[in-house]
Formats: sequence, structure tokens, C-alpha cells
Amino acid sequence: MGKRSDFERIPPDFYPTPESAVQPLLPHLGFETRFCEPCAGDGRLIDHLTKWGHHCAAAWDIEPQRADISCVDATDRLIGNIDCFITNPPWSRPILHELIVKLSTQHPTWLLFDADWMHTKQSASFTPWLRKIVSVGRVKWIEESPHTGKDNCCWYLFDANAVAPAQFIGRAA
Ligand SMILES: C[S@@+](CC[C@H](N)C(=O)[O-])C[C@H]1O[C@@H](n2cnc3c(N)ncnc32)[C@H](O)[C@@H]1O
Repeated sequence: MGKRSDFERIPPDFYPTPESAVQPLLPHLGFETRFCEPCAGDGRLIDHLTKWGHHCAAAWDIEPQRADISCVDATDRLIGNIDCFITNPPWSRPILHELIVKLSTQHPTWLLFDADWMHTKQSASFTPWLRKIVSVGRVKWIEESPHTGKDNCCWYLFDANAVAPAQFIGRAA
């Protein structure tokens, strides 16, 4: 996963989240968080989160790779009775931006993607919706690869009802 990488991308934007990328998010989740994973892929992120006591209320993907994940387009579905959405979404900007709008107007939404995005002009209209930015650094997306991706990443917490400027949480020592 990386727009500066020479490697061929895995279609269709399918990069399961490794557990190391979830660790920085854990201190920011409430006790037994009830979440929806809207772009769940093969359920990798769900498994990391449930291992830490959080509850998956719903799991969707347009190309689900596990029986407990429903075939749902996350830009086209509403959900109630959850604390938040949590996902590693597709990074291509049109779908990413559509997801930010669709999800974070319903519930607080944690999204893992490249840190560079917040420095682009296209991020400007979403800045007022940011509540937290949690630095992750480089992520090793491909398990068997000795290399990490070339992009630094963050967990972004979007909330269309955010009122204060976003809080930045840097890397743990
Ligand atoms: C980067 S992968 C992440 C998989 C999983 N969230 C994880 O962290 O392991 C992105 C996933 O988004 C899915 N996806 C793309 N567009 C979608 C949409 N509109 N609604 C739901 N899922 C979508 C893809 O099929 C892919 O499985």
C-alpha cells in the first residue's frame, strides 16, 4: 500500500491490517467498544480488536472474504447502536472522501491511512471534522515481506459533530 511504492498494488485496495498498526489505537478506545468494520476484507482488523475485548456489531465489504462479513457497500448503508466505525479503508481519494462523509456523519469514525493526506489541499474541508490524529509510522502491510510500506500512517478520528481542534498524539517512545 503506497503511492510512492514501485510494487504493484494488490487489487482492489486489499491490504489487511497487521496487529502492530492496531496497538497505537487501543488506548483511545473505550472499554468494550461496540464498532462496525465497514470495509472488513478478510476480517483481520476485526480479529485484532475483538482480541482486546471490543465487540464487532457489524462487518461489511463489497468483496467480503469471510462468512461473517456481509456484502455491503459502506457508502450506501446506515447503522445505529454502535460506538464508532473502525477500518483501514481504500486509500484512493474519491472513495476515501466519500467514506469519510458517509460514516462520520453517522458516528465517530476511526480510519487508518497515510499521514501525508492531512498535508494536502484536498484534506482542508475535512479538517473541522477531525477530533484526533494518532501517529502509527510505517506499516508492514505484506506479512512475508521484509519491508514496511513507504508511507507513514495515522489513525484519524473523524466526527462531523467535532467542536474543538484535533488533538495530535505522537509516537510512543
Ligand atoms: C485496505 S483493505 C482493508 C481490509 C480490512 N479493513 C483490514 O483492515 O484488514 C480495504 C477494503 O475495503 C473494501 N472496500 C472498498 N470499497 C468499499 C465500499 N464502498 N464499501 C465496503 N468495502 C469497500 C475492499 O474490498 C477491501 O477489502
